[in-house]
Amino acid sequence: MLDNLGSLKRTHMAGALRPEHVGQKVTLMGWVYRRRDFGPLTFIDLRDREGVVQVVLDEERFPKAHAVGKRLRSEYVICVQGQVVLREAETINPNIASGEVEVVAEQIYVFNESKTPPFELDATRPPSEDLRLKYRYLDLRRQKMQENLRLRHRITATIRNFFDRHGFLEIETPILTKSTPEGARDYLVPSRLNPGEFYALPQSPQLFKQILMMAGYDRYYQIARCFRDEDLRADRQPEFTQIDIEMSFVQPEDIFEVIEPLLVEVFAVAGIEISRPFARLSYAEAIDRFGSDKPDTRFGMELVDLSELLRETEFASFAKILSEGGQVKAITLRGGAKYSRKQIDDLTAHVKDAFAATGLGYIKRSESGEISSPLTKNLGEATITKIVERAAALPEDIVFLCAGTQEVVAATLGWLRVELAKRENLIEDRWNLLWVTDFPMFEYHLDDKRWYAMHHPFTSPKDEHLATLEENPAAVLAKAYDLVLNGVELGGGSIRIHRPDVQRQIFRILGFSDEEAKRRFGFFLDALTYGTPPHGGIALGLDRLVALLAGESSIREVIAFPKTAKASCLMTDSPSEVSSEQLRELRIKIDR
Ligand code: AMO
Repeated sequence: MLDNLGSLKRTHMAGALRPEHVGQKVTLMGWVYRRRDFGPLTFIDLRDREGVVQVVLDEERFPKAHAVGKRLRSEYVICVQGQVVLREAETINPNIASGEVEVVAEQIYVFNESKTPPFELDATRPPSEDLRLKYRYLDLRRQKMQENLRLRHRITATIRNFFDRHGFLEIETPILTKSTPEGARDYLVPSRLNPGEFYALPQSPQLFKQILMMAGYDRYYQIARCFRDEDLRADRQPEFTQIDIEMSFVQPEDIFEVIEPLLVEVFAVAGIEISRPFARLSYAEAIDRFGSDKPDTRFGMELVDLSELLRETEFASFAKILSEGGQVKAITLRGGAKYSRKQIDDLTAHVKDAFAATGLGYIKRSESGEISSPLTKNLGEATITKIVERAAALPEDIVFLCAGTQEVVAATLGWLRVELAKRENLIEDRWNLLWVTDFPMFEYHLDDKRWYAMHHPFTSPKDEHLATLEENPAAVLAKAYDLVLNGVELGGGSIRIHRPDVQRQIFRILGFSDEEAKRRFGFFLDALTYGTPPHGGIALGLDRLVALLAGESSIREVIAFPKTAKASCLMTDSPSEVSSEQLRELRIKIDR
C-alpha cells in the first residue's frame, strides 16, 4: 500500500539539518539512499537535494515506523516524521554535513517504490558511462552530478547578474533559422509548410547578434544553445551552450575589459581567485614558443628554434626541409634521458601517424653530462654540442627535435610538450588565463585548394591589411582573439567587418561568387548597407568553463542530458525513426 501526499507538508530539507534543529519535530521527504538493519534498530540514510540525514527506526519506541522500515529498499520515496536529536559523540559522521544529528522517526509514509537501480548511486567508482546515460535520471541523483549542475546554475546566475549590472540586454535569437557558418555541418530541420526547404539550427547566433548591433541595441548577451554536426570529443557536444556577447563601437580591449571582470566573478563562485589583466600572446608567438594557438602555459618546455643554427648543415633531410622554408625545432625535457628506446619509438610512431611528422630526433645527456644521439653521424659532434647548448640541456635531460613545415613542427612539438608534461607531472595547479590575439585571417586548405576563414567570414582584417587583402591572403591578420585557459580554448571572438564592400571582398577571397554570397547571406549584406556601427564580440563555451571549474575532464559531466560520441541520447533513444505519415507530410523519402 502506498501513501498519498494528502495534507503532509515538508518542513525541512533532510540534508540541511544541523545541531540548531535539535529538539524540533520535522517532516522530511526524499529517497532511501541506504538502509542498515540491526534487528530492533534500523538506520535509513534519507536523501534529498540538499544531502543526506540519518533516520533511526527504533522498534521499542515507535514499532509502527520500524515495521514500515522493514519494507523500504533503495530509492523508495518516503516521508519521515520525527524529532531531530544530537548523535552520540562516537557516532558523529564527519563525512556528511548533517553528520552531528539524526532523526528519530515516529511515522514513515511510503509514496513510491523503486525497482532495484542498475547501479549503486553511492558507488565510489561510477558505473560505465553508457549505463549512466541510459539511466540518466538515476545518475543525476548522484552527489557529484548534483554538485556539478548546482555549480552550473550558480555560474549562469552570476553571468546574468553581471551583464544586467553592465547594461547588456539578454535577447533571444531563433533556433529555426538559416545556416550560420562556424566551420561545422548544419543540423537541418525540414519545413512542412515549404516542402523541400529546410531550416538550419544555429551553429552560433553570430549573424543575429551582429544584426542586433545594426539595430542599435549596443550591448547584447545571451546564454545561447548552439548546434554543430561535427566529430565529437570530450570537450565537444552536438548541442552546447555559449555565453554570447556583442558590443558596438568597441576595440578588442573593450571586450577584454568586460570578459575579464566577468570571469573574476565566475571563478569566485567556485572559490577561485584569478588576477587581471590576463596574459596576452600573439598567435605568431604562441605558435613559435608553444607550437599551439591554445598553449598551456602552466609549465615551460618552450620550443627552441634551431633553423638558423642548422642553416649550413650537410645533413640532406634537414637541409632540404630548411631550403623549402621549413624549420627545425626542439624541446628539452628535464630528467628525460631515462626515456627508453621503446618509449621514444612509441612517441615517434604517434607523431608520424597523428601529425604526418617525418620523425623525432633526440639527444640525451647522461648523468655525467656526456652527449649521445643517433643524429651525431648526420650532424657531427660539434653541431650536436651546439644544439645541446642552444636547447639548454643539462645532465640527464633529453632534447627532442622535429624538422618539417611550420605546421607539422608546431603540431608535433606542441603535442609532445603537453604529453611529456602530463607524463612527468610538470603541470602546476594554476589557472592560466590567456588572450591569444592577431590570428591570421585566412587559412589555406590543400585538399580543395581554397582559402577558409580561420575564425568566421565576418571577422575584420586589421586596418593596415585592408588595402592588400587579395594580394596576399596568407599575410592578412585579423582582429580576432581567443581566450585560452590551461590549454583549453574557452572562447573566441573578433571585431567584425562593418563595411559592406569589405564583407563582399572577404566573401570573394573565400571563393563565394556574388550570387552565392547573396543567396546565403543576402539579408545580412543588405542589413550592412543601412548604417552599421563598428562592433565586435565574443562567445565563451559555458560547458567547457563549468567543466574546468568543476574539475571534470568531460563536458558531459556538467550537462544534464548530454549525447554520446555518436551524437545519440541513450535515455530517449534519439535520433530515431519517424512514422511514414510524418515523412509523407514533409515530402521526404529515405534513401537507404
Ligand atoms: P567559436 O566557434 O570559437 O566562436 O565558439 C566559441 C566557443 O564555444 C565553445 N564550443 C563548443 N563547446 C562545446 N561543444 C562544441 N561542439 C563547441 N564548439 C565550440 C568553445 C569555443 O571557444 N560566433 C563565434 C563567436 C564570436 O565570434 O563572437 C563562435 O561561435 O569554447
